[in-house]
Order: sequence, then structure tokens, then C-alpha cells
Amino acid sequence: MTLYVAFDVYGTLVDPMGMADLLVPEAGSDASALAALWREKQLEFSFRKGLMKAYEDFGICTRQALRYAMASRGLPLSPEREDALMTAYLTLPAFDDAADALAALDGQYPLFAFSNGTYSALEKVLGHNRLLAHLDGLVSVDDVKSFKPDPAVYAYARRATGAWDDPLCLVSSNAWDVIGARAAGLKAIWVQRDKNKVLEDWGIRPSAVIHSLADLPEVLKTL
Ligand code: LAC
Repeated sequence: MTLYVAFDVYGTLVDPMGMADLLVPEAGSDASALAALWREKQLEFSFRKGLMKAYEDFGICTRQALRYAMASRGLPLSPEREDALMTAYLTLPAFDDAADALAALDGQYPLFAFSNGTYSALEKVLGHNRLLAHLDGLVSVDDVKSFKPDPAVYAYARRATGAWDDPLCLVSSNAWDVIGARAAGLKAIWVQRDKNKVLEDWGIRPSAVIHSLADLPEVLKTL
């Protein structure tokens, strides 16, 4: 029995809050809150487009969420500035624990990234952070034209990774992603980097909870 491991990308390997510094020219001390709103709306738009069966790729959700976030604060956003911020999104920083954890697991388990992002965005952001070389492959929801937490995308991840009869374990900091994966029959480890983050009590438990990706080599042995 081989345990396949699939990493969520945004929020788990790379940090969307890395955009905050770049928003300082417009937003000043509100930059972190603005980056958080941008991220929140990006996810909300993906959920809504999925439910509406009106798929547009994650980059479009990100761009539309940026426009919303700026407009909601009454801040200007020229087409040039919008493009510059969208380009910067392709080089979001990795979390400090990501590269070492992937290096430690490389060769021990089949490793994949499994994300709402498109292949081209994933290649860029994971390549920029030198994470791509540790992975055996990428799985994007773009193949299914739907978004997490549609059970269809988790079923697709099983097929696309080749984990047919073997268990597939999602590793995600996004509690809603963990709940979606567990509901679809996958194993899922919740990365609770921030002690104040709460996992919604839907009666659906993660397979394990860790506080840093550095804990993965140990916890994977217990699954
Ligand atoms: C992803 C979203 C959940 O990477 O951030 O799939």
C-alpha cells in the first residue's frame, strides 16, 4: 500500500498574505486587511462560480477579487497596476517550512500539488520557490472545470495522481478544503499554523492536525 500525498498550494505551500507588502502604496496600514479581503473574496468567487456552474479559472477569480477589494475601500486600480499585482501573485512567497518538508518527503511518497490554480500559475509559483522539483506532478481543478470543495475535484485528484486503490492524503491549511477532502473519502491533514484558526465543527474530522509542515514526516507514518 502506497500513501499518495497531495499538497494544497495557496495558503499551504505559498502565502497569499505575501501580497500585503505590495498593497502598502495604496492601502498603508490597511494593507494586511486588504490582502486578507482579497483572499477571502477570491475563494468566495470560486465557490460561487462552482455552484453556479459558471467556471472561470482561478486567475480570473483572483483578478475579480482584487478589483472588488480595491473598490470596496474606494482605492484606485489602473489596468497597469492590476496587471502588475496579478504578475506579482505568480511569485508569492513560500512558507518557511515548505521547501524543507518537501525535501524530507521527496522519494518517500509520491508527492503532488493539488490546487484550484491553473497549471501555468502553479508551475510559476512553485518553480519560483524551488518547490516544483520535489513534486511528482501537479493536479489542477482546471481539468474538471470546477473548484474545491466540489467532490468531483477530489475524485479527480485520486484519478490524476494514480492513487486508485491506494490512499490519497491531502495536506492543507484551509479547513474547508480538509473538510471537503474528508467528505469525498480522502485522508486529509490540517496544517493549523495559527493556533487561533478554528476548524468548523461539521462532525467531519481531519485524519491528523499538525502545526507546521515540519511535522509531516512523523505524522504521515501514523496514517
Ligand atoms: C488551492 C486553494 C484552496 O490552492 O488555495 O487550491
